[in-house]
Amino acid sequence: MDSIIFSGNSNPELTAQITSELKIPLGKAEIIRFADSECRVRIEEDVEGKNIFVIQSLSNPVDEHLMEFLLMGDAVKRGEPRKMIAVLPYHSYARQDRIHRPGECLSAQVVAKMIESVGFDKLITLELHNESIVGFFKIPVVHVSGLEVFRKRVTDLKEDVVIITPDAGALKRSQKFAESLDLPLALIEKKRDLERPHKILSMRVVGDVKNRTAVIVDDVIVTGGTLINAAFLLKEKGAKKVIAAATHADFVGGADKILQDSPLDQVWVTDTIFIPPSKNFPKLKISSIASTLSGTMAKMVK
Ligand code: R5P
Repeated sequence: MDSIIFSGNSNPELTAQITSELKIPLGKAEIIRFADSECRVRIEEDVEGKNIFVIQSLSNPVDEHLMEFLLMGDAVKRGEPRKMIAVLPYHSYARQDRIHRPGECLSAQVVAKMIESVGFDKLITLELHNESIVGFFKIPVVHVSGLEVFRKRVTDLKEDVVIITPDAGALKRSQKFAESLDLPLALIEKKRDLERPHKILSMRVVGDVKNRTAVIVDDVIVTGGTLINAAFLLKEKGAKKVIAAATHADFVGGADKILQDSPLDQVWVTDTIFIPPSKNFPKLKISSIASTLSGTMAKMVK
């Protein structure tokens, strides 16, 4: 069965690695922007009866990348593919997964409806902020953990490691990771200021981190605030070294510089979101997620 991969503009570097690993051709597509910023997508391949993947990381600028992805899905669907599979290495709006204050929107559900309305048959995604948003979809969702790529990094440390969950919401993910490595787990209780985005009110460590290497496991780094505050706290509590391991890195507002200058000893991320050389820094170690994704995609076209 013929397959084609189409890619939006958010992370062509990752798509290139995936197409080369899977030996599936990259479909030609035209994505143009009008002067008023509207986007138009036209695919230049015959997709009828074929398995089609549409890859796009919904990273910053989020709405631009989301719209491009939806329009690409619509263009493909009109060509009557056999199956159309969405591949979102980074799924944005996943943090808005519940109504925190009366009057708020439920963004994760809205985005799920938008993806389905275009006609995707399946979704592959990585390290959702909260796995339960899978329940917002009627189509099957394959949710892959991005943390696998960090396991070898942890064992290579050959140190006395404790895994840290940076907030209660991330507990399940960190627990699974700690169990898979047979390592102890400690928790940080984080209270966010719901009136001010990215602002943290307080943090408290629960568990023993003294004289250990603390590896904080998170889904995404944006401003770096969560991890930097956690690193200060963990060092204060006696951690020998603090390492951050997050699947997605959508650095904004000088996060690269503040992470480099922080008490963090290393920052491990993957390439689900393209990191330009200008945002790279000495403490940053980037692992490729291409094989994890292509392994999952290969199972869909057998
Ligand atoms: C929040 O609950 C997430 O899991 C991340 O910890 C958070 O979004 C990271 O954002 P920032 O880097 O701005 O603290």
